[in-house]
Amino acid sequence: MTDIKAVLKAYADRFNSEIVGLFDGATGPEARVVEAMKYSVLNGGKRLRPYLVCETAGLFGKSFEQSFPAAASLEMLHSYSLIHDDLPAMDNDDLRRGKPTCHKQFDEATAILAGDGLLTYAFEVLATSDYPADVKIELMKLLSRGAGAFKGMVAGQMLDLYAEKIHKPENPLALISHIEEMKTGCLLSYACEAGAVIGGADEKQRQILLNYSRKIGIAFQIADDILDAEGDPALVGKTLKKDKEQNKLTFVSCYGIEKARRISQDLIAEAMDIISVFNAKGQNLQALAKFIIERNF
Ligand code: IPE
Ligand code: IPE
Ligand code: MG
Ligand code: MG
Ligand code: MG
Repeated sequence: MTDIKAVLKAYADRFNSEIVGLFDGATGPEARVVEAMKYSVLNGGKRLRPYLVCETAGLFGKSFEQSFPAAASLEMLHSYSLIHDDLPAMDNDDLRRGKPTCHKQFDEATAILAGDGLLTYAFEVLATSDYPADVKIELMKLLSRGAGAFKGMVAGQMLDLYAEKIHKPENPLALISHIEEMKTGCLLSYACEAGAVIGGADEKQRQILLNYSRKIGIAFQIADDILDAEGDPALVGKTLKKDKEQNKLTFVSCYGIEKARRISQDLIAEAMDIISVFNAKGQNLQALAKFIIERNF
């Protein structure tokens, strides 16, 4: 099977060398916010979402360059979500990707603005890309929905904070699935759907990719929650055991680690089965699904 860690690393190196150029040109004292944006995008990160855009677009013959604007804008948006997630008013974290969080490295106000700047810049990057107008509009529609406050990432983050305060939810499984689908799943689904849009996939192919993304999305967050509970801090690059401390509702808090792990394994088996219709072309996506739950960072 594909050495997916090596493939991801090669992708991340290439991606990093391209995205860095998008932060040039700021001058004056206001350049501080661009510095903070650049710091938060270029401070490591697995680049899983951009890779998913590239690999799914690649199923339809599209190149790294063709997927890059969508991949870069998604990573900017993801990085903004992490900056705000780490703020004292949210998860209050000091460490991200093994380095001080944005508000620790800079200050809280700059971190808020860096998040705002990345969110806005993500859409500028899409709007000024060379994609045909209909592709651009579709991508902007899907990204704003996936990241948004109605059924997207922001809604999931709101619910994540709400759930901290409830001690015994009525239907914890329904609530936790809903939170994880929105706060994490939506952007992973967007990654796959963006690849389908850039690649000109037909409706059936697009649905296959969406079904795959929904399975890996929940499994990805379960893996994150398991790493929080029992990961190696040196590898994960975040302060661990925070979910319990902050009374987060997760699959681990509902079921315990072993059952949560089994649920994630079942989801990944389903994802691998779904993506198998692309045969050899989908082999990296198969390997990626496995990596999502086997990773130690
Ligand atoms: C962390 O995402 C936040 C979650 C949605 C769980 P990643 O684990 O993809 O973080 P980076 O981008 O690799 O740092
Ligand atoms: C964050 O989930 C999801 C988003 C940033 C949208 P977590 O709060 O579990 O992510 P980590 O563990 O801080 O990376
Ligand atoms: Mg959080
Ligand atoms: Mg967090
Ligand atoms: Mg977490």
